[in-house]
Amino acid sequence: MNAIVKIAGSERYARCIQTSKRVRWDVEADVIRGRHFDAAHKFLPDGLSLADAFTTLSDDEKRFVSQIQGRTYANVFGLVERFINAKVLELSHDHWFGDQVALEALVRFSDEELKHQALFRRIDAMAGDVLPDGYRFDIDPNAVAHAVLGKSTWAVLALTLDIELFTQLHYRQSIEPDAGLSELFKDVFLYHWKEESQHAILDELEWARHDAALTAEQRDRAVDEFIELVAAVDGILQVQAKADAGYFAATCGRAVGAAEARAIEAAFLEAYRWQYIHSGAQHPHFGKVLSGLITEDQGRRIQAALATLH
Ligand SMILES: [Fe+2]
Ligand SMILES: [Fe+2]
Repeated sequence: MNAIVKIAGSERYARCIQTSKRVRWDVEADVIRGRHFDAAHKFLPDGLSLADAFTTLSDDEKRFVSQIQGRTYANVFGLVERFINAKVLELSHDHWFGDQVALEALVRFSDEELKHQALFRRIDAMAGDVLPDGYRFDIDPNAVAHAVLGKSTWAVLALTLDIELFTQLHYRQSIEPDAGLSELFKDVFLYHWKEESQHAILDELEWARHDAALTAEQRDRAVDEFIELVAAVDGILQVQAKADAGYFAATCGRAVGAAEARAIEAAFLEAYRWQYIHSGAQHPHFGKVLSGLITEDQGRRIQAALATLH
């Protein structure tokens, strides 16, 4: 790496530290502020919950779906942040006896992800206070983290950048402009997004740094591993779509026939694939960074894999 690239990189790590200090928030004092959820409000906006895909449901039932999906949204972030944080701590090793600014930026990143996991556990419990009993999120974050971290760093960083960019996109495009949402739910994702912005910059810096040390063969294998990780994410989404559709049918207060139950489960899965796979894959900056690292043939392999998830 030449000296100019090195200085530019170090400056970007330093700016992440400055912004991280400026936007830093506390779960209770800044985000929760003694508030509670109210079942009269939506949690996730229609643009993310894909309310229109639930064609058999009334408006009140669609609001309930947005609350179920909002609770799952918090739980999925809590889940992915387990492996993201472990990978960030692992990457920090490369800077222990090197760039101390980069090391500080990654330590703050890790500290923030631990705080976010605590926030999302709190949100899950608070949502449980106002929603019917019986909700399940049984996917073990540690088991997922072990499986994800078994893949190469390149593949994990690709997935991580994708996730950390779509948190920003979801907030700006869908959550912020929706006037019908719970103010507390909105604030959770406003504050989350403020710290995620720095994470996405650090992901990109670390991904480029790591990529520069790979051979073409290693990178080609990593592209396949990224595709395997996206398929694993889809497996998780299928499990949770089934669980959430079952919870809806059991608690919505009316009988749901077999055909309608299948349609509701399909709509949950469509929404989750949009939230966690396609919205990130279509993110312009993710596409730009990814295409800067891979060949056209590798890009076609990724697109072909994504196209099967509909
Ligand atoms: Fe986070
Ligand atoms: Fe993050």
